[in-house]
Amino acid sequence: MSLQDKCQVLHFGDLGDERGKLVVIEGAQAIPFEIKRVFYIYDSDSTVVRGQHANRESEFVLINVAGNSKVRVTDGKEEFIVELNKPMMGVYIPKMIWKDMYDFSADSVLLVLASEHYREDEYIRDYDEYLREVQGV
Ligand code: TYD
Repeated sequence: MSLQDKCQVLHFGDLGDERGKLVVIEGAQAIPFEIKRVFYIYDSDSTVVRGQHANRESEFVLINVAGNSKVRVTDGKEEFIVELNKPMMGVYIPKMIWKDMYDFSADSVLLVLASEHYREDEYIRDYDEYLREVQGV
């Protein structure tokens, strides 16, 4: 399976009407896991690179609910970049994928849905260590 097949770009339904837009994301329905944790990143600017980690256990969906940003994902072999620029789109990031988030617009609010509670020991923050683990060497 290619990296793009693994890290699917998701398009959520818009239940909006003349009163405004409404996007609903139900755990294990619109996304492939039950949601245990939600966090959001804002006030990062275009010079900042966040993420720079992979997770041994957690899966994520990233959504720019306002503004835009880019996400670069790699499995150590392929890489691709997704521009998050619509509240009704997201990108699914499975476990053991390295990710960087960058190019945040001034109004960017990046919502992150996670499959696991926070545990620092399941984060890999060293790229060489990530390559060793993902390549099984
Ligand atoms: P970090 O993982 O560096 O954020 P990002 O992935 O957006 O670059 O997290 C920043 C700090 O916040 C770090 O000290 C860990 C802490 N943190 C939590 O305590 N709980 C969480 O759910 C997250 C995402 C981070």
